[in-house]
Amino acid sequence: MKELGMALMGTFAIALFFGFKIYPDLEYTGGTSVSSCTGMCYAEYVETYGTPAEIERKKQELASADEFSSIRGLWAGCAACHGQNGEGMAVFPALKGQTKEYITDRLYAYKNRETIGAMSQTMWGQAAMLSDSDIETIGKFIQQELK
Ligand code: HEC
Repeated sequence: MKELGMALMGTFAIALFFGFKIYPDLEYTGGTSVSSCTGMCYAEYVETYGTPAEIERKKQELASADEFSSIRGLWAGCAACHGQNGEGMAVFPALKGQTKEYITDRLYAYKNRETIGAMSQTMWGQAAMLSDSDIETIGKFIQQELK
């Protein structure tokens, strides 16, 4: 009987933990959790952060204000070899400080499977997955952001 009691208590504790700790966190509210916030509190929340719809709109505006948002994910792949800030690593050339023209020329050349250095083949596969507009955006990104 004692064991059954312990087991029940254990289950109860887990249920409490789930109900009060995990479940409220699962609910996506677009900001600080408002699940326990109604009436005056909600009015205050809206005053500070805006309505959930406004918060969504602001987030989208921020994303579209970042002209490099389309290639930031791609750049993470490039950064694995060329360094987070394009500083280069060992055999991988630095990209920072280059002009847009320099970068796009190289990328178009690799896309056409041209040989530039001894390791051009490594870049053929990389450039093959870039669209022309990706190449233009990456060129601009490197010129503007990686100095
Ligand atoms: C697996 C490692 C690797 C990855 C990932 C990689 N590169 Fe490279 N990159 C190289 C190597 C090696 C070279 C030198 C190639 C050669 O010898 O011609 C190079 C050369 C370049 C060059 C020419 C630099 C110069 O001064 O000649 C550019 C531009 C470039 N990479 C851009 C990128 C971009 C943009 C990405 C992401 C889409 C990327 N690379 C991903 C390894 C990599």
